[in-house]
Amino acid sequence: MSIKNIRLEVMQTIEKEIDSYMEKYLIPPEKIWQPTDFLPNSQKDTFFEETHKIREEAKELGYDFWVVLVGDTITEEALPTYESWLMDVEGIDQQGNNGWSRWIRHWTGEENRHGDVLNKYLYLSGRVNMREVEITTQHLINDGFDIGTANDPYRNFVYTSFQELATNISHKRVGQLAKKKGNVLLGKMCNVIAGDEMRHHLAYREFVKTILKYDPSEMMLAFEDMMRKKIVMPAQFVRESGEAVGTAFENFSNAAQRLGVYTTHDYVDIMKKLISYWEIDKLTNLTATAEKARDYLMRLPDRMLRIAERVAIPKDSTKFKWVEANGML
Ligand SMILES: [Fe+2]
Ligand SMILES: [Fe+2]
Repeated sequence: MSIKNIRLEVMQTIEKEIDSYMEKYLIPPEKIWQPTDFLPNSQKDTFFEETHKIREEAKELGYDFWVVLVGDTITEEALPTYESWLMDVEGIDQQGNNGWSRWIRHWTGEENRHGDVLNKYLYLSGRVNMREVEITTQHLINDGFDIGTANDPYRNFVYTSFQELATNISHKRVGQLAKKKGNVLLGKMCNVIAGDEMRHHLAYREFVKTILKYDPSEMMLAFEDMMRKKIVMPAQFVRESGEAVGTAFENFSNAAQRLGVYTTHDYVDIMKKLISYWEIDKLTNLTATAEKARDYLMRLPDRMLRIAERVAIPKDSTKFKWVEANGML
């Protein structure tokens, strides 16, 4: 059987259990938090008072903080890109009664609340130039992305396992920073988002763990390939109005590193966690090339740490149109 056919068969085997995965890792709309649970209620007169409080508290947060929060929001807002990308993966089919597409739709439904709550918060905060934020979001969706997975489910699940944990970490840290500066409500918003990301991470890493049982060598090679390419952030192609594709990413990422929201050390930590949960060191029945891939993977975290220690992050904030024009600097 060809490599592609085996992947399809593995996907179909897991698909039979998709309902129990959904029950375990996703939460129905009526039971899960919704953005308005954390935002001023616009049907009540207390709306203005609550909004005023948000705006006053927001003044305590610094320039890099806003850059990072905007970047995180835009990343969440580009959800149409991720949904359409995943719908194109081998074994996932929008047509018919495909269990995987149900998973993707329900995952998307949960994810959609992230951009929703953050966008409304940013709007109410009065600290960012919403029009610039909106232009960037539209660009990011227009530009699309390529995360190097092609339509391979194995590579895509490595990517999502990694990325969901990366977003868990960054939302959690932003929440901690907000809370430290007295922004309790924003702290809560970031925290509940981080909670969703963690459940998603646990689900995707479980998919990979299951695939490792059926097709260990190919799964190993897919993991190796993704680590060689490096996991690129969905915001990799982010740009501000009038600028070229991807030009805002490095400065956004530097701001995140300066604040300690998401660093190269986190990247290495995630890699280590995946290697350990998937028991990469213990897998048996591997082909010779998969054994080599394992060796590469086992050595990679230390190698990356050594490189990370040499990289210097610029100390000063870079100006962003997202944050300009509101008299903050
Ligand atoms: Fe999210
Ligand atoms: Fe996510």
